[in-house]
Amino acid sequence: MVADSGRIRTAQLLADGRLALLREEDLTDEVVMVIYKNGAWAVARGADGPVVTEGLCPHAKAPLIEGEWSGSTVTCRRHGLRFELATGACQNNPRYRLRRFSTIVVNGYICLGPERPIAPAAPMEEVSRWP
Ligand code: FES
Repeated sequence: MVADSGRIRTAQLLADGRLALLREEDLTDEVVMVIYKNGAWAVARGADGPVVTEGLCPHAKAPLIEGEWSGSTVTCRRHGLRFELATGACQNNPRYRLRRFSTIVVNGYICLGPERPIAPAAPMEEVSRWP
C-alpha cells in the first residue's frame, strides 16, 4: 500500500469499477498527483470543475504537478512545453499532446469518467476508510 503524502495521493477503486481520484473537498488551488498501480493523473481545479490530465509530461515524463498551471494551460518545468488543457494540444510542439480525462463525481469523489472504466476489484467500503 502506498501512503498518501502532501500533493501525492493514492486513488481508490470503487465497487462499480470507477477509479476515485480525490474527494471533492480535498481539491484546492494546488495541483495534486494521484497514482494507482502504473497510472498517474494530475488533478487541478478548473473554472468549470475538476481538470484531470495524465500525470506525467508526454515529452520526457516530468511530473506535471511541478509544472506551472495557469487558467487554461500547464507549462512543464523541465523543458517548457505548454499544453492547452481543453484540447491537450501542445502550443510549442505539435508532436506532443496531453491526455485529458473526463470526470464524474460519485458520492463526493472525483472519478475518472465513464469512457475509461476499470474492472471492479475492491469493495465499496474501502472508500469509506479513506483519510
Ligand atoms: S519533460 Fe516536459 S517538456 Fe520535457
